[in-house]
Amino acid sequence: MRIDIITLHPALLDGALSESIIKRAREKGLAEIVIHNLRDWCDDMRRTADDYPFGGEAGMVMKIEPIYKCITELKSQRHYDEIIYTSPDGIQYNQGEANRLSLLDNIIILCGHYKGVDHRVREHLITREISIGDYVLTGGELAAAVITDSVVRIIPGAIGDEASALTDSFQDGLLAPPVYTRPAEFNGWSVPEVLLSGHFAKIDEWQQEQAMERTKLLRPDLLK
Ligand code: ADE
Repeated sequence: MRIDIITLHPALLDGALSESIIKRAREKGLAEIVIHNLRDWCDDMRRTADDYPFGGEAGMVMKIEPIYKCITELKSQRHYDEIIYTSPDGIQYNQGEANRLSLLDNIIILCGHYKGVDHRVREHLITREISIGDYVLTGGELAAAVITDSVVRIIPGAIGDEASALTDSFQDGLLAPPVYTRPAEFNGWSVPEVLLSGHFAKIDEWQQEQAMERTKLLRPDLLK
């Protein structure tokens, strides 16, 4: 799949999307991630991307023209399944939405900044508004990085151990069971016996029980 990210701060995304699983997925050609500096579509001398809001409120608003030019240019090159705007007032992001996005061919993510974008962008150009939680970030870049990371890592082939993405927390609606590694005994703290038993059916049963117990305890809302 291809993800085009439109931002005023490319450096915030470059680092976050060039390490570990995401780096490998890009190298393997599973995901093409293209980061666009919105200022490249601002054609005044100062490359101005924002302006004062009509109505005289405090703060600045991202202008429509550069965003329109950038999105129109991208849309002339390929079809986009979703044009996403990251904003605290979007729908709440979750694993189900990550799974859905991971099945699409091409998406654009527009990162908001300042007081946000001219509302006409949201009315006429954006197809989906996503929030990563009920708090306000300085800009949408970290949200775009969260969305891109969570989508790319579940593209088949991105994670070496294919089973691993399927056993993530939330994939079956539950939190993941606890995991342990060697040594089996440390500081008098031991790993649950069953995990050392080699009895795969019992291990599986224990993991399912633990997943349910942890979900009941920590995230009962997921069971409703
Ligand atoms: N931009 C600012 N805050 C945000 C949030 N919580 N989610 C997505 N985009 C944002």
